Amino acid sequence: MPTFAAAEQKMAFVMVGLPARGKSYIARKLARYLRWRGQETRVFNVGTYRREIVGSQVSHDFFDPDNPEGRKERMRLAELVLKDMLRWLASSGQVGIYDATNSTKERRRWIRETCTAAGVTVVFIETVCDDPHVIDRNLRDTKLHSPDYAGVASEDALIDFKQRIAHYQRAYEPLADDEGRFVKLIDEGTKVVVHNVDGAILSRVVYFLMNLRTKRRPIWLTRHGESLFNVEDRIGGDSGLSPRGHEFARALAGFMQPRRGKEPITVWTSRLQRTIQTASYLAERTTAFRSLDEIDAGECDGMTYTEVRKRYPEQFEARAKDKLNYRYPRGESYNDVIQRLDPIIIEIERHEHPILVVSHQGVLRALYAYLMDTPPADCPHIPMPLHTVLELMPSAYGCTERRFPLSS
Ligand code: SIN
Repeated sequence: MPTFAAAEQKMAFVMVGLPARGKSYIARKLARYLRWRGQETRVFNVGTYRREIVGSQVSHDFFDPDNPEGRKERMRLAELVLKDMLRWLASSGQVGIYDATNSTKERRRWIRETCTAAGVTVVFIETVCDDPHVIDRNLRDTKLHSPDYAGVASEDALIDFKQRIAHYQRAYEPLADDEGRFVKLIDEGTKVVVHNVDGAILSRVVYFLMNLRTKRRPIWLTRHGESLFNVEDRIGGDSGLSPRGHEFARALAGFMQPRRGKEPITVWTSRLQRTIQTASYLAERTTAFRSLDEIDAGECDGMTYTEVRKRYPEQFEARAKDKLNYRYPRGESYNDVIQRLDPIIIEIERHEHPILVVSHQGVLRALYAYLMDTPPADCPHIPMPLHTVLELMPSAYGCTERRFPLSS
């Protein structure tokens, strides 16, 4: 996918929506996705500035539109954050995400005019949700753990936050067609309205947003068991498992056994023998994806690293210098792998059941980099040992990780 930078266009995604409608969740997910795709992206959250400058424990009155002092202070903070974002975009930044309620037309007009004057294109992302269960879940999952309510009893915090929402609700004006480019995500993406959005890059962002679900379930990542090529220290190829590899495959089935709950586990492999054999001891049916095949080593496929160093010394050196962008002769780079994994990321985001991915070192590094928000340059160096299962559990704003080495 071309980058915004390639188009030399700096972008601002501006969140819109009442509190507890999942704005920060979406802002962070989008930032993670764009960073993974190689775009310098940062979230600018007005609430974080407010906590630092005014303090975390302000009562709901601060957000009352009829409180002139609160209004003045909130505008001052909004200006400060926008200024910081535009300053960052004027230097190294490519995509800024301005995360605040931005609940009135007047506020949004000011943001759009200020960004446009700075040469930054604005796309609003509005989250709309009236389902009391979803709002309640968001409140309990995130707001009650916010520093705003540190040391406050849950029930008191809930009452105060609901009053805060009511203040915003009184002044709230939904996005309208005369407000430029926007995406409206209604009821957690069940319905999506896209206005004035075009081009390959923005279309991909819309596609990503449409597929975001909030269901928490584990994602397990594992390399195939040791292959016959691994034993010989050869890269690529399509060899089967060694006896040790089969032993790991059986251990993997044992590892997954107690993790089966009411929900079925989805198992994905690459199309290569070593991953298919690794998954063959599991009770689940598996699906093989070409996009989960190992990085294509091109002319080096089937060689040992010693042979590569001998036959292609300059290639060996180039790879060591910049592993992310280095492309094997007639093969792929890590960056190429990231691009081809995009549909898998979309599937992971929209999927609501636990997922086990049995794949290869390079591909799993790229998937892990997305899930754990690892900077792209570090992606080719993420430790991804054989015979170890990584359990990643999505949390409110990220993922927690556990590693399980399964055999000798
Ligand atoms: C906050 O101060 O917590 C949020 C401000 C806003 O989004 O309007």
